[in-house]
Amino acid sequence: MNIHTYEKFWLIGAMVLIVAFIATVTYGAAGLGIAMVDDEGGTIAPDEIGDHDKFGDPGVHQVGENEYDVYVHAYTFGYSPDTIEIPENSEVTFYVTSSDVTHSFTVVGTNVNTMVIPGEIAEITAQFDEPEEYGILCNEYCGFGHHDMEAELHVVPETEFDLTELAVDAPDEVDTDDQAQVTASVTNGMLEDLDTTVTLEIGNETVEEDVTVAGDSSEDVTFAVDASTLGDGDHDWTVTVDDYTESDQLTVGTDDDGDSDDGDTTEEE
Ligand code: CUA
Repeated sequence: MNIHTYEKFWLIGAMVLIVAFIATVTYGAAGLGIAMVDDEGGTIAPDEIGDHDKFGDPGVHQVGENEYDVYVHAYTFGYSPDTIEIPENSEVTFYVTSSDVTHSFTVVGTNVNTMVIPGEIAEITAQFDEPEEYGILCNEYCGFGHHDMEAELHVVPETEFDLTELAVDAPDEVDTDDQAQVTASVTNGMLEDLDTTVTLEIGNETVEEDVTVAGDSSEDVTFAVDASTLGDGDHDWTVTVDDYTESDQLTVGTDDDGDSDDGDTTEEE
């Protein structure tokens, strides 16, 4: 059979194109290491998000030397947490779920872009090497507030990153002859121990206590302050741990009935 030269040329050309198309699609699907978002992340009932041990208090967890898991709860119309902070040079896996309708979790300028479907946990991993601030937004139309649905991802220098949290439990008022118990709870979300100092400033007094908080746990430090040394009245206090502070006011003495005013205190001298 004789095939015309031009016919042969077009046949070969068409074959080459078909092979090239298949090669391109295969490279795009397998060669670039881009994984499709699947159901690997698991499922979660939308009304049980608050009870989940991670989604109940969404945020960042260290899981390896340079590896972090970030749990995000998407809802109409926002994300919790609305600001995510991670260190540079880290591999971050985002777990995102929705408590109402379908949203998306899109980190602008990166490959992180996934639908967030109620009942399912979207899981997506990315590497962040340089300090930078990214916007996070919703790409799926989800209602009247869709265009306002946004959050931020801050990739910060390693020296500026920690997962320390401070919460303070202190009374609002205490009797003059009593002690005020001020308890600072220091939480360390990193895997390594945290050596730090808890400082309480109240009135003219400053008390300090060194504390070591093991990785992924918390420690309480309680200061007992004699109300009599502070004297009657309002006293501002501040508890400091590294860059974190909590402050409020302690009132010494009660004036509920008016009988613990001047008279009482002078009698004691
Ligand atoms: Cu959420 Cu659009």
